[in-house]
Amino acid sequence: MEQKLLWGAATSSYQIEGAVSEDGRTPSIWDTFCATPGTVTAGETGDVACDHYHRMPADVALMAELGLDVYRFSLAWPRVQPDGAGKGNPAGIAFYDRLVDELLAKNILPWVTLYHWDLPQALEDAGGWPNRDTAYRFAEYAAVAYDALGDRVSQWTTMNEPWCSAMLGYITGRHAPGRRDARAGFAAVHHLLLGHGLASQVIREKARANGRSEGLEVGITLNLAPKIPASESPEDIAAAHWEDGLSNRLYLDPLLRAEYPADVAAKLEELGCPLPVQDGDLSIIAQPVDVLGVNYYSSNVVAAAPAGPNGWPASTAVQRDVERTAMDWEVTPEALTGLLLRLEREYPGPAWYITENGAAYADAPDANGFVDDADRERYLRTHIDAALEARARGANLRGYFAWSLFDNFEWSYGYDRRFGIVRVDYDTQERTPKRSARYYADRIQEEKKRELMSPVQTG
Ligand code: FCB
Repeated sequence: MEQKLLWGAATSSYQIEGAVSEDGRTPSIWDTFCATPGTVTAGETGDVACDHYHRMPADVALMAELGLDVYRFSLAWPRVQPDGAGKGNPAGIAFYDRLVDELLAKNILPWVTLYHWDLPQALEDAGGWPNRDTAYRFAEYAAVAYDALGDRVSQWTTMNEPWCSAMLGYITGRHAPGRRDARAGFAAVHHLLLGHGLASQVIREKARANGRSEGLEVGITLNLAPKIPASESPEDIAAAHWEDGLSNRLYLDPLLRAEYPADVAAKLEELGCPLPVQDGDLSIIAQPVDVLGVNYYSSNVVAAAPAGPNGWPASTAVQRDVERTAMDWEVTPEALTGLLLRLEREYPGPAWYITENGAAYADAPDANGFVDDADRERYLRTHIDAALEARARGANLRGYFAWSLFDNFEWSYGYDRRFGIVRVDYDTQERTPKRSARYYADRIQEEKKRELMSPVQTG
């Protein structure tokens, strides 16, 4: 029988919780990064954010009003296991206990992401993700988290977007911890993936030992962006293939085929940035993945450019004449259909979930705080349509999460970019569902009705 689709919304700990020094939480790399002048727009921080830590029950009630089946949130590692070591912090864990209970009481499935970028600063001080030991620390943290919540949570995502952690965190320095060291960045790629594999093993073993394997879904979320060659010329095709290698294949291949893409691995080696693979690592990384989360925002057209002075392959992004969001990202829903079909064709096996999809626009609230965001509604509608089209054509798509439930702390952009379907007034912390939230709530109901009416499919 065809699986039911799940409809949800997503957030992450540092972007919404606030309460950064409460109940034993220690600083994460994002606290340190935000405190460093010149890193985040207007010097903003996640100190208060959406104050979700103190407003959680009302926030969950709002999710229920919108009719969400599932809520994807992340645990703050420095809240659960301060400084990234030891048995776990009961006061910090208690928050997630209450959140999970509140969700279950409202019939909303809790979907946990273990790592959405808030590494304990103590672990960065010990070398961060370029240090292999961090992968083992991550597996220990996964054990603490699973022991605390595994009796009620079956959906576990290890990492959110390791590309961002490695590239933006350690290579471009746009994100915490703000390092600019390519060699360290590619070591981070490998250790993030190794951490995923080790943590998946821990969760599966614990679930098995506790008789909770049924319904368990373990996976990882990647940001995948199709790279479309600007022309049929061999140079443009090669440039797009390289970009696809760096952004997509470098993660998909080890996870789902137990090998790094040979072209990318060889080039990195040549450039002095080898992937520090040890014997046995790839079989750990390629643990069975129940769920591959896809975060999709945009696609890029890529044209060849002369290699940089240091030998790095270069390319240019060709601007298309299409709508853009406030992030300057091109709105290309059709590329989502193509992406899901490609995943099904080239990497069959996991269930695909769109774990993030959404858009920032320059919202203008009326006197009541209502935002008539027809642009965001259109973005959601066309992307949901595109995802369902891929499903109709055979992609094993099982669910969709809007990013984000709330306006929140958008990393280096601070509060200057709003992705929420619910507006947050940061002066009063008032929440007001936008037009897009109403649309999404209606769409969920419509899709459920359609599902009920469609003939049961077997086989
Ligand atoms: C993704 C992140 C998420 C949010 C959106 C806009 O890369 O996972 O936290 O910042 O982009």
